[in-house]
Amino acid sequence: MSDSHGIDRRAFVKAAVAIGGASALSACLDRGPELDVARGPEDPASAFPERQHAWNAALPTDDAGNNHHPRHRILLALDYDGDGTPTDAEREAVEAALTGVERAYERSADGLLLTISYSPYYFARFDADLPGSVDLPEPRALSDFEDPDADDVDAIVHLASDHGEVVMGAEEALKGEVEELNGVSQPESALTDALSVRERRTGFIGDGLPAENQDVNGVPDDGPVPEDAPLYMGFESAFEGNQPGEDRVTIESGPFAGGTTQQLSTLTLNLNQWYEQDSRDQRVSKMFCPHHASEGTVEGTGENLGNDPQMDDCGDPTETARSEGVVGHSQKMVDVREDDKPIILRRDFDSTDGDRASVHFLSLQRTIADFVTTREAMNGDAVAADSAVGQRTNNGILQYINTVRRGNFLVPPRSLRALPPSNPDSDAADTAEVARA
Ligand code: HEM
Repeated sequence: MSDSHGIDRRAFVKAAVAIGGASALSACLDRGPELDVARGPEDPASAFPERQHAWNAALPTDDAGNNHHPRHRILLALDYDGDGTPTDAEREAVEAALTGVERAYERSADGLLLTISYSPYYFARFDADLPGSVDLPEPRALSDFEDPDADDVDAIVHLASDHGEVVMGAEEALKGEVEELNGVSQPESALTDALSVRERRTGFIGDGLPAENQDVNGVPDDGPVPEDAPLYMGFESAFEGNQPGEDRVTIESGPFAGGTTQQLSTLTLNLNQWYEQDSRDQRVSKMFCPHHASEGTVEGTGENLGNDPQMDDCGDPTETARSEGVVGHSQKMVDVREDDKPIILRRDFDSTDGDRASVHFLSLQRTIADFVTTREAMNGDAVAADSAVGQRTNNGILQYINTVRRGNFLVPPRSLRALPPSNPDSDAADTAEVARA
């Protein structure tokens, strides 16, 4: 949609997602063309993969082979209501609610993709520790210059769709607010029978959305975000060649095999210097690498890169920092690669939460240690110590982002997604099951 009516409608839908609630949803449905989204299967449990995070096969790819990123997102940050450990009735309510929305919308970007994940604070209520096959520490600061709040909610539901109405509809159904969704009747029980919504976080990614929503703190007033950019900083991201496959981020053994870990941080953006003082070449240097700036490798938002930003051409980050006085964001992390691929799978998106341009940086990895290794490479401490590059200045994009909150979560396999015990195989969990029966 390129006409002004289309843009108005897109801005309206994005605003409705940010506001949320039944009236925003019905305003959206009343104002737009009728939503025509296929329904999901009668029995999602038998039709859907055990890996909740197996989204790639359900996503279309662009002409270059990059996965499409669903455009609208809601993150429901949830607290468990009970005093002790979850009961079977609560587990059944949560499972029924999740299954209800899966029956309503097909599992795709046009329909709905979702995950539910749990924090170390959630698992602390069980006697048993998480099994050794799960690496899920409490979040912490990962550089000298960040001081994030710990995201200490119990659980996060991530809803993703190309249609704002779908994520909003799913949210209302999970809260037990609608009896029917996309013509499919919803269960009596709701997610909120066992979990309370502490905070809703929203966001978007995709061509045009950042430019249409740049009237927020952190972006200069003159509207500098390129019209076709998928993210506020103006470049395509998460190219196929710079992402690992889902196998590399999946837990391979133990009771949570088939799951993954999720790192979720809120990064606020300050793009004044980025757009007002930095030149286009400086932006390319800082995001990719100086080589790409001098060779003109990146055109516009970088669509010309196809599915591969050619990071091998960037050269050694320390040498670049010494000779150019600047080093690229993605250039710094190439050494962390395994089999020529990064070890974290990025599924981040932009946000206007709190009227501030920000990023909900969401990544999946087999262990949180894989995230820490990658984030430490992004700090570029060694590069800065050995060159004129500063701790944050000319050091990739560190100067423009501030990590205000970080959380670590376990995305269990689908069969354990409803209020899982900490160690489904352990004696302690068995004893707890017996005690509850
Ligand atoms: C405002 C925040 C961020 C933006 C706009 C951003 C954008 C980008 C862009 C444009 C690229 C190069 C192209 C591509 O992705 O394929 C990239 C690469 C990458 N980014 Fe970020 N990024 C951000 C934050 C982060 C954070 C917090 C991490 C966590 C450590 C991270 C990890 C990575 C990794 C692993 C790569 C690929 C490195 C490789 O090529 O081996 N990014 N990012």
